[in-house]
Amino acid sequence: MASKRTIEIVKATAPVLQEHGEAITKVFYTLLFEKHPELRDVFNMTHQQKGSQQKVLANAIFQYAVHIDKLEMMGPAVESIAQKHTSLSISKEAYPIVGENLLLAIKEGLGAAATDEIIDAWAEAYGDLAAIFVSREEEIYTEREQYRGGFRGTKAFVVAQKVVESSVITSFYLKRADGTPVPQFLPGQYVALTVSVPGTTHQHTRNYSMSDSSDRDYLRISVKRETGYPEGVVSNYLHDEIHEGDVLELGMPSGEFVWQTTENPSVFISGGIGVTPLLSMYKEAVAKSTKPIVFIQCALNSDVCAFADEIEALTNHRVQAAKVYSLPLSEDVLGEHYDFKGYLTEDVLESLGVAAMSDFYFCGPTPFMANTLAVLEAYGVAESQINYEFFGPQEELELV
Ligand SMILES: Cc1cc2nc3c(=O)[nH]c(=O)nc-3n(C[C@H](O)[C@H](O)[C@H](O)COP(=O)(O)OP(=O)(O)OC[C@H]3O[C@@H](n4cnc5c(N)ncnc54)[C@H](O)[C@@H]3O)c2cc1C
Ligand code: HEM
Repeated sequence: MASKRTIEIVKATAPVLQEHGEAITKVFYTLLFEKHPELRDVFNMTHQQKGSQQKVLANAIFQYAVHIDKLEMMGPAVESIAQKHTSLSISKEAYPIVGENLLLAIKEGLGAAATDEIIDAWAEAYGDLAAIFVSREEEIYTEREQYRGGFRGTKAFVVAQKVVESSVITSFYLKRADGTPVPQFLPGQYVALTVSVPGTTHQHTRNYSMSDSSDRDYLRISVKRETGYPEGVVSNYLHDEIHEGDVLELGMPSGEFVWQTTENPSVFISGGIGVTPLLSMYKEAVAKSTKPIVFIQCALNSDVCAFADEIEALTNHRVQAAKVYSLPLSEDVLGEHYDFKGYLTEDVLESLGVAAMSDFYFCGPTPFMANTLAVLEAYGVAESQINYEFFGPQEELELV
């Protein structure tokens, strides 16, 4: 626990940090990558270029400064960051490196106001926060080693099967290269995959959610080809260059966006590639829950929509599925090939008989997430029943 004086100083300087937060974290990352270029392998450099990672780190530091005297309130945030860190096999040795460069950046950000007392207070505060992460992350690493197929660090996986699911989504069925069982995971969790892409200067690490049940003898990930400009580095490499028999490096499954058994019905709402963690959860829910289940799949049209048959195959008197297309093709017939045109609305939920008292899980592109959150709030769903995951740094969802 930080000293009373440290708490006072950190809280007093928090507003300045919030104001300059993104600039400070930008300086921090510049310093970090200059001195430790090897860390480019583990950080997603696209998030750096877009500035989204700077935003979430600045926000985390500010939240910490505000809550320094009641750190128990940081619990959920710490857990989600620890899950992300452990997916990436971040080691305790990296904390002093990050701390040193963060302090240099804070010093620069505070300018003339950065007295020795302030910098020392932040050094103590960082040390305390780092200790919380190191301890939780060590616990997670140790727990995971005990899992069936568990390990620490990364292992080689061979692509046992590659399946095209739609014009933009391809699945990779992965098995341990040494023949040992694949690691246990909770439906909804993701792995970190590291690849060397020819023509680029460092390795690239990306998270991919498991898209199939947890009781298979493979892990299935399903990757959307990012065709924007510039083209997505890893997704295009996987689609074009990785074939059956090739070997990929993976960390242990991580994440806390997982399906929970409760007394409520479960509703899964996916946008585009956000279908992956939800499909895994849906399969688990169908197998284990006795409550109603609804899967609402939102996509542009039948050309890009993946897994509709897998979802449909599990429907019965208790489990229903619906498709919402925002840009149907001329051959996509409403009522035959898809159920609703446009975006998710309260009317869609109402016509499917969705109870507001359900547990909702959603995932997809950020605008889809913001719309879904707004729709659920308008539908009267309690915050405690809303669960979602970002396929990138965890931004605030601004309501549309
Ligand atoms: C928890 C989690 C689970 C995930 N699960 C899945 C999953 O199941 N399936 C899946 O397909 N993806 C998933 N993702 C996303 C995945 O990790 C990658 O982000 C995705 O595959 C894109 O990586 P890439 O290397 O192909 O693209 P990148 O090269 O990282 O580019 C991503 C996008 O940013 C754009 N871009 C690149 N550079 C810039 C720049 N300088 N300025 C502006 N825009 C730029 C690109 O055009 C592209 O559209 C998940 C992410 C997380 C965090
Ligand atoms: C107390 C110190 C730290 C804090 C407060 C912190 C905070 C964060 C936060 C808020 C995120 C974003 C999580 C998300 O959006 O899902 C994150 C991600 C990450 N952190 Fe940390 N972190 C700390 C230490 C470290 C260390 C020591 C490393 C090791 C080099 C590290 C490496 C990463 C990486 C690689 C990511 C993912 C980045 C990306 O996706 O671009 N962090 N961290």
